[in-house]
Amino acid sequence: MSSPFVDSFGRHHDNLRISVTDRCNIRCFYCMPADNVEFMPKSHLLTFEEIVRFVKVVVQRGVKKIRLTGGEPLVRRDLHKLIEQIVAIEGIDDVGLTTNGILLADQAQNLYESGLRRINISLDALDPVKFKEVTRREGYEQVLAGIRAAQEVGFDPVKINAVSIRGLTEDQIVPFGNLARETGVEIRFIEFMPLDADATWQREKVLFASEILEKLSTEIGPLKPLPTQDPSAPATDFEFEDGRGRIGIIASVSQPFCGQCNRFRLTADGKIRNCLFSLEETDIKQLLRENADDQTILAAVEASIQAKKEGHEINTARFIQPDRPMYSIGG
Ligand code: 5AD
Ligand code: SF4
Repeated sequence: MSSPFVDSFGRHHDNLRISVTDRCNIRCFYCMPADNVEFMPKSHLLTFEEIVRFVKVVVQRGVKKIRLTGGEPLVRRDLHKLIEQIVAIEGIDDVGLTTNGILLADQAQNLYESGLRRINISLDALDPVKFKEVTRREGYEQVLAGIRAAQEVGFDPVKINAVSIRGLTEDQIVPFGNLARETGVEIRFIEFMPLDADATWQREKVLFASEILEKLSTEIGPLKPLPTQDPSAPATDFEFEDGRGRIGIIASVSQPFCGQCNRFRLTADGKIRNCLFSLEETDIKQLLRENADDQTILAAVEASIQAKKEGHEINTARFIQPDRPMYSIGG
């Protein structure tokens, strides 16, 4: 294998997140507008063939971890067929999916059979009223059914991503902690980041990781940190001291983890982004559609990664929110 993608800060990039669509069947306020979303025209979306070609190209430079995201990836028809092809690529040793879970009960079996084993389900509240407040759509029961189905067909791990928002989700922390203890699902609390379509993010709306840990330990029981398996992983993992219930903390705002970042992204319309917060992107779709050779595609990715900034600047006055909200980047 030739040399890995290394940026100017020495970070190796072997982890690619692929957004397969910007469409979604709910409208979480921290990601999408409530109504009248302008989605990408279908012809702009990379085909499965194009995505697979791209993965086969970047594998040559040591990319080995893939996560599929959206929008909501399960609204892309036959997603399991794409997964089957990605899992089969030599050199790819880890494939995950992040879904809102609404369509999961129906698709869990097919997804499992395609070779997928790791699944993260986004759910911010264990309460149908609050669910609707966040998502502005129905679907709470379907998500719960999706989580159950994922566990039943054998996904391991099943994780829940819960975005933490001050003034909204404080009362969900303890119920989530109890769910982790009762079901074996790992709950990962993610600090609200400025990637919402309506640009209403304010620092005051971020419910900090430290507050979440404090609440869990005073109201449920003491937590102990678990040894880090992957130094590039955004989550810090904890377990309740009695060994029941795993909690992950993604402190993107209060404790940025950019220094260890190994991630880059391919948007559904075929642009490479070297960071969630980057203000520039590199067009790959055009290269794929011109049938460019592998070296040309690799050079484009290399240039994008080379230009990666040291980290996000959310905590500075210089911060500029990217034009693309989360649903269009891919979480
Ligand atoms: N801040 C933090 N997390 C977000 N997600 C989407 N938008 C935001 C945001 N503005 C989460 C989703 C999903 C993951 C991919 O990113 O809930 O779980
Ligand atoms: Fe990586 Fe950018 Fe996220 Fe920092 S903000 S962890 S550099 S993707």
